[in-house]
Amino acid sequence: MNIEKKIVFISGSLRKNSFNTKILKNFENEISKYGFDCTFIDLNKYPLPFFNEDIETENLPENLLVLKKIFQNSCGLVVASPEYNGEISAVLKNTFDWLSRKLPGEVPKQSFLNLSSIAITSSTGKNGATRALERLKILLSRLGVDDEILTYNLGKASMDLFDQQDNILINNEINKIKSLSNYFANLIHQEEDLYQHLKVS
Ligand SMILES: Cc1cc2nc3c(=O)[nH]c(=O)nc-3n(C[C@H](O)[C@H](O)[C@H](O)COP(=O)(O)O)c2cc1C
Repeated sequence: MNIEKKIVFISGSLRKNSFNTKILKNFENEISKYGFDCTFIDLNKYPLPFFNEDIETENLPENLLVLKKIFQNSCGLVVASPEYNGEISAVLKNTFDWLSRKLPGEVPKQSFLNLSSIAITSSTGKNGATRALERLKILLSRLGVDDEILTYNLGKASMDLFDQQDNILINNEINKIKSLSNYFANLIHQEEDLYQHLKVS
């Protein structure tokens, strides 16, 4: 398994026409151009119960094992969340709480350790979910991703900003997504080089 080439994309919105999911797809399109193997997680397809330590000891959800495998086989994480009352979505927080748990045989924070990451938020409001973005960055850093967390946010989101294939139509935003994706790909390649160097020396 070539972990260095896998990137996981996850949206914290369950909504069919989610702006966050659309933005995430734009990042996936760009990042895949650098030769990464991209896995897009639609949380509608990976339901997990509300985190409860009783369930954890009695009956570990199958979806958790699937998600853990995807995360632990990746070198990058691109995550988008809506802002609900100033916070990230509950479904994303719940998923990350589950993923943060150390299972037998794992090292602490194994699902997030060494992941390069991009945190994305978007909302219909003019502030572009900046409060949720701060929360998401703090959470990611606590979970153990690499120190440099890249960010993108978009305010005043509306259907008019996207075409039928979910491509974003605003030049300024297209350029931002392209340059962030380029920076992200370089960051991962640099880490790959460092890792190879450490293996050799
Ligand atoms: C319960 C709820 C709370 C919300 N709170 C905020 C908020 O605090 N700030 C904000 O900018 N938008 C808020 N919104 C608007 C969402 O940002 C908007 O519905 C957005 O489109 C959701 O993201 P999605 O398109 O990815 O599903 C809220 C929406 C809901 C349903």
